[in-house]
Amino acid sequence: MRVALVQNHPEFGKKSENIDRLFALIDKTEADLYVLPELAYSGYQFVSPEDLAAVAEEADSPAIKAFEEKARRRKAALVFGFPEKTSGGFYNSSLSVLPDGTRYLYRKTHLFYKEKLFFRPGDTGFFVFDFQGVKIGPAICFDWSFPESFRTLALLGADIIAHSSNLVMPYCQKANYCQALVNRVYIATANRIGTEYREEESLTFTGESVLVSPRGEYLARADKDREEIIAADVDINLSRNKKINSFNDVFAERRPDMYFSSPRSVTDE
Ligand code: ACM
Repeated sequence: MRVALVQNHPEFGKKSENIDRLFALIDKTEADLYVLPELAYSGYQFVSPEDLAAVAEEADSPAIKAFEEKARRRKAALVFGFPEKTSGGFYNSSLSVLPDGTRYLYRKTHLFYKEKLFFRPGDTGFFVFDFQGVKIGPAICFDWSFPESFRTLALLGADIIAHSSNLVMPYCQKANYCQALVNRVYIATANRIGTEYREEESLTFTGESVLVSPRGEYLARADKDREEIIAADVDINLSRNKKINSFNDVFAERRPDMYFSSPRSVTDE
């Protein structure tokens, strides 16, 4: 499977222009799976609920339908972040759309910084879905900081973690080396670039989208401050093989009964 990561520079609130630019980036490269950033076309730094309400939408809005149409035309899967509006509030969500019209919704489990002021914590939990025989697990940005996130997806059988991001810290791209290696999984972190300055606070996004293999190889890496699309092939024989030598299989040998023991004094023996 060929996996592409789209790295863009959305302008805050300019939804349709941002979608056009995302689609132009997608059209530059053939792939089976396109991973796009978190909040891929809305901008990130909301400063009031009204601000968020102006761009948020239900998962079947016309903008979302445009992504479905793109997936159908390209005969590819698209995973993208968007601000989701529901009757119960807003979620920082990612939608995976497949060319046959199937859709999977993931709502960000671990909210970052001021997202907590406007979004509800995600309630979908982690899951994987199948596309062309490959298991894909969506995650959103700050989820990376909780090792349980990628671990859970790997234990669920993910071959590729589709990690839609708006990273403002420089650590995730490096940490992916370790998370990909210990989980023996591909990690596709699609990040954005640019600076948003709203209400006296400026946030700069770190770009450098990366696709890392289960061996910790950086198969593709984008620039720190350029819009671009990068791609590489993934081989599920690697993500399905958790053996690191003829004695050790790092999944089969997990010992969950040992991971939460109580202290035991030697005098108890
Ligand atoms: C983040 O979760 N957008 C850092």
